[in-house]
Amino acid sequence: MKTNKISLKEIVSHAKQYGFVFPSSEIYDGINAIYDYGQYGIYLKNNIKEYWWKSMIQINKNIIGLETSILMHPKIWKASGHVYKFKEIFLSNEDTKKSYRLDLLIENYFKKNNYLNKDLKKNIIKYIDKKLKINEKEKILKIINKMKILNPKNKERTKWTKIYEYNLMFKIPLKEHDGNKKFYLRPETAQGIFTNFLNVLNSSKIKIPFGIAQIGKVFRKEIIARQFIFRMREFEQMEMQFFIHPKQEEKWLEYWKKKRLRWHLSLGLGEKKYRVYEHEQLAHYANKAYDIQFKYPFGFKELEGVHSRTNFDLKNHEKYSKKKIRVFDNKKSYMPYIIETSVGLDRIFLAVFSSCLKKETIKKERIILKIHPALSPIKAAIFPLIRDKRLMAYAKDIYKKLKIYFILTYEDKDSIGKRYRRQDAIGTPICVTIDFKTLKDKCVTMRFRDKMLQKRVLIKDLKREIKKETSMNKLLKLLI
Ligand code: GAP
Repeated sequence: MKTNKISLKEIVSHAKQYGFVFPSSEIYDGINAIYDYGQYGIYLKNNIKEYWWKSMIQINKNIIGLETSILMHPKIWKASGHVYKFKEIFLSNEDTKKSYRLDLLIENYFKKNNYLNKDLKKNIIKYIDKKLKINEKEKILKIINKMKILNPKNKERTKWTKIYEYNLMFKIPLKEHDGNKKFYLRPETAQGIFTNFLNVLNSSKIKIPFGIAQIGKVFRKEIIARQFIFRMREFEQMEMQFFIHPKQEEKWLEYWKKKRLRWHLSLGLGEKKYRVYEHEQLAHYANKAYDIQFKYPFGFKELEGVHSRTNFDLKNHEKYSKKKIRVFDNKKSYMPYIIETSVGLDRIFLAVFSSCLKKETIKKERIILKIHPALSPIKAAIFPLIRDKRLMAYAKDIYKKLKIYFILTYEDKDSIGKRYRRQDAIGTPICVTIDFKTLKDKCVTMRFRDKMLQKRVLIKDLKREIKKETSMNKLLKLLI
């Protein structure tokens, strides 16, 4: 069997053709970096969500779930540092007048120069941060021009002439709250967890160490938004904030780094697709952080962040809200530290979709989405072998009886071969065919997507067989 590589362009086109991901507002010529999920995409997305949620809430007795609002009190974003620090820095040059992200220019510069010297890179980043704080942008331009950072467009020397900052939060004007109060669409779900910390503590018997998990939409004004659903302006995060004693910061950071990597590996995309990278440029709230990176069709990129946020957020919420945010232990009170795991649901979707989409040639070529059956949008397709009234009635009856247990599909159009191909292309792990023999022996043929193996099973065993193959418990078992 030959497996041919699939390009990003083919992945994007397959996602659209087979109802996984559509460009948003397409009939109005689309809108950059915003996407809609189609009829199969939404199942895949929900299955990833369910797996993450169960792996957090169901498996860990000390993690609970929340769902907090997208719009929050404006002061929250001041306390969290997002109003002042959630910014990208851009450089533009004389030749093309195009803007480029400063951190990426620096990263590429050191990569091309074989990282020269790690301390030099750190010192330059530190220097830039310092100069930004006191608004000495000319000094930053001077050092960048001295480094001779090339223009990414033509790879030639250029004079960098302008440096500017850009806050990534979407501002929402609310009439009744004008003046100084500015509302924002949340850029991370984490703040809803921090601001509910006391509510959770007071309404449950939970004790430190414990976690609060949440899945929800977030919004960012990404300027450089490309690479399909990798970098979007509206996306979904799955975050878990783990509250610990400050002395246990290192232990829990390591614990969650390993645990999250294990979760990703359980999806079966291959160990070589992942690498863990310690952050050099920390977010404003982090003390130490790791990126779990994934090998997308455009190279290794951040999939998930595991951060030690210390007590940065709680401390600031205590200050801005003037409410004590403490826990008591042995009659002593302290402010917990937080280890955060934060992953973009859409980035997992892209990791799964892009690495499981294969072009295989045995005699003929077939496009197959080889995803874990627990994540497959449709668990089984029920087919009559041909459009014969008796076979169709039999197949429809099986579909009707099993549809309350699984997401199934029934199809009788086209040849059986064509129907198999369509299901392969959307990742259906099992096709069940009803033929004339079925009418006598009450057996059906199960055909398995990956190896195209077939076996006859009794109709009464079909539910058990489909469950065995597609149950999410199979994935969850890998975690314990
Ligand atoms: N609460 C911490 C936080 O938000 P982050 O590194 O900014 O940290 C966490 O984002 C995760 O969210 C990333 O690892 C990535 O998976 C996802 N993410 C970030 N920006 C994204 C974007 N523009 N589009 C899709 N996913 C994104």
